[in-house]
Amino acid sequence: MIELDQLTKTFTQKDGQPVKAVDAVSLSVQEGEICVFLGPSGCGKTTTLKMINRLIEPTSGRVLINNEDTTGLNEVDLRRHIGYVIQQIGLFPNMTIEENITVVPRLLGWDKKRCAERAKELMSMVALDPTQYLKRYPRELSGGQQQRIGVIRALAADPPVLLMDEPFGAVDPINRETIQNEFFQMQRQLNKTVIMVSHDIDEAIKLGDRIAVFRRGQLVQYDHPDTLLARPRDEFVAQFVGQDSTLKRLLLVKAGDAATQPETARVDTPLAHAFSVMDETDNRYLSVLDDAGHALGFVTRRAARAGDGTCGERVTPFPVNVSAEDNLRVVLSKMYQFSASWLPVLDAQGAYVGEITQDSIAAYLSSGRSRQQTGQPPGAAIKLAQAAA
Ligand SMILES: Nc1ncnc2c1ncn2[C@@H]1O[C@H](COP(=O)(O)OP(=O)(O)OP(=O)(O)O)[C@@H](O)[C@H]1O
Ligand SMILES: [Mg+2]
Repeated sequence: MIELDQLTKTFTQKDGQPVKAVDAVSLSVQEGEICVFLGPSGCGKTTTLKMINRLIEPTSGRVLINNEDTTGLNEVDLRRHIGYVIQQIGLFPNMTIEENITVVPRLLGWDKKRCAERAKELMSMVALDPTQYLKRYPRELSGGQQQRIGVIRALAADPPVLLMDEPFGAVDPINRETIQNEFFQMQRQLNKTVIMVSHDIDEAIKLGDRIAVFRRGQLVQYDHPDTLLARPRDEFVAQFVGQDSTLKRLLLVKAGDAATQPETARVDTPLAHAFSVMDETDNRYLSVLDDAGHALGFVTRRAARAGDGTCGERVTPFPVNVSAEDNLRVVLSKMYQFSASWLPVLDAQGAYVGEITQDSIAAYLSSGRSRQQTGQPPGAAIKLAQAAA
């Protein structure tokens, strides 16, 4: 766990005037989580990051890693614990890719063989052929390839903590998407604790378990992405997350969150009874479940009105369904594709858990509730699914 405690940096400008670049920032990042520092240029993101590994000495305040105050650690110990990806990639131009990757291991005294093996291992993690690239110089790589090297270089000594300053800023949107996905899968596998700087709200939502929004050196809001989108603390945050914040939430909220549990019928429920239930609840249909709780389809009010026999005899199969783990973007896409105003929601075993309607989605998104309030983490499963897509 990383904890920033009232971290403050005051620079003295050339004219002697002090500038508070970072002003009493306190926050904590749990092990294995990605925290994204978000905010406009000059708001103090890089300065805060650099105080964590003491590239910049704090004016006051403390940084604790696993409850240990890092003020007492020497630089070698800090480097062993904290990997760093600097803004603008920052590969050493006069060193080969292999030398770049093994800078920290060599500082830590690893022997040649171990360094070479580590470099190969890391290259394969980002799908770069070691035999082809390790002996090249940075200028002989594309921007996206250099960015990947910047990331794996920070991972070289296998530090539990990773600080990344706009690590994907220098690549085009398509490559950025790929590198973000690669990184996300790597982070989840290796369980690194990450603080990443970004000024891209979409990147922050995609990768962040929590987002810290900075303004003029101060921490304005620190929340799960969906909470930030659903309940921005002030006008500044609201502007920063954008006017389409509700649409952005579609990726974060799951079908299970916005599902309702309406009345259902069994196979042997008399149609006449089904009709009276629909009449009372003003529904045009009723889902029909078998004894195992699987949804077979639905009966319409019109079919039930005929009144003869049981629901099992008049079932219309569902044209499509969604999983409780699907995000609302997938749900809405299916609704539009099948021109459906509602869909049955199934759990991982295929059992019926409720239904989702255009109204229930609207009700959830406008209710002020968010994923964090429902007690769930922002959904590593959703994000892994995105990463794999
Ligand atoms: N060495 C320094 N001396 C004086 N002022 C500095 C120094 N370094 C940074 N600052 C000032 O501190 C503030 C925060 O800078 P910082 O680099 O942390 O911003 P940032 O949020 O990372 O911005 P960007 O998104 O542009 O990278 C800025 O106003 C900057 O001008
Ligand atoms: Mg910066």
